[in-house]
Amino acid sequence: MSVVEIKKNIYWVGVVDWNLRNFHGYSLARKGTTYNAYLVLDDKVTLFDTVPEKFKLDFYHQIQNLIKISDIDYIVVNHVEPDHSGALPFIVEKACPEKIFCSAMGKKVLLDHYHKQDWPYEVVGTGDSVSLGQKSIQFMETRMLHWPDSMFSYIPEEKLLISNDAFGQNIAATERFDDEVDLNELLAEAKHYYANIILPYSPLVQKVLARVQDAGWQIDMIAPDHGFIWRSHVDKILTAYKEFSAQKLLNKAVVVYDTMWQSTEKMAKAIADGLVEEGTSVKLMSLKAYHHSDVMGEVADAAAVICGSPTHNNGMLPLMADFLTYMKGLRPAGRIGAAFGSFGWSGEAAKQIAQVLKDARFDLPVEELKVKNVPTHEHLARCKEMGRIIAQKIQEKLA
Ligand code: FEO
Repeated sequence: MSVVEIKKNIYWVGVVDWNLRNFHGYSLARKGTTYNAYLVLDDKVTLFDTVPEKFKLDFYHQIQNLIKISDIDYIVVNHVEPDHSGALPFIVEKACPEKIFCSAMGKKVLLDHYHKQDWPYEVVGTGDSVSLGQKSIQFMETRMLHWPDSMFSYIPEEKLLISNDAFGQNIAATERFDDEVDLNELLAEAKHYYANIILPYSPLVQKVLARVQDAGWQIDMIAPDHGFIWRSHVDKILTAYKEFSAQKLLNKAVVVYDTMWQSTEKMAKAIADGLVEEGTSVKLMSLKAYHHSDVMGEVADAAAVICGSPTHNNGMLPLMADFLTYMKGLRPAGRIGAAFGSFGWSGEAAKQIAQVLKDARFDLPVEELKVKNVPTHEHLARCKEMGRIIAQKIQEKLA
């Protein structure tokens, strides 16, 4: 991809990863992604972040389209995760920068990753600033957004926030800006990204948003390290992050299940029917059809998550164990949960699911529901009733 000037003398110099599907080993990126890096041409030529190691030559040529790599004076490491620092050793070797700016934790994590004691680290923290000539950078540490080392870089002369992982989306494209793509698609991908990457740190997101406001930063462009740059809809993504981090819930339930011989699936459909009859919107998701990260994309704004598995070898099916482990780690808060499943002889799965949901601090207003072998019409009526009760509980909760 060609470099793009995003502000006067500030360039996008990232790479597009069209073929990525497995994002960081846990989330599905069905549209690929981008690794955004930015280059400021000023008295001090400054590079913000890099790209994965495997793209280091693409990145090198991107930069060389604008300047000689040895012209780089400063490198800012906003985040050490290897999708943003993998090419750093190669670039440092070629550029021999005067300074590498990072947070105190960033320095530790860089040393842990690359073992380079002799790099010219310059540790910065919230409130520090550095002049580049015409422009300057103000730093703000954003611990756990997405790692303990993370920070924002703000260029006040351009009202530009370089936000690292925050406000990102996984979309590979030839366009770079939010007004060059369908806004609903962009916000949907931002929600999917938030639900799978940022969700556990929601209380910290709220603090960072407040700190940005308190700092009085005027922002007319947000340049994240993945996906599109926000310039026409800055207000929309800031509002979306306020809502995502507040875990604003809808009158919506996710019924997620795995099944062997379709008995648990029949129960899932009947529960969904009961929810719908009471006016609750439902996403019915088989774990054989939906990746756990796509289910989390729907859990993001669902008031209830209802999980089902038949009993297999005295436990739940592996895909349900995978999903519950994944969801528990992402710490969705304030939601209703419920468990169900069919069984042949022992029937432990539904109880085990209910226990995981309790451990994950879900509110379980109904007992788990079990059906032996194949559900009868009466069994399905009980499933439907379970759906109706949960819908009523959702509506009471949202009232
Ligand atoms: Fe895009 Fe936390 O790395």
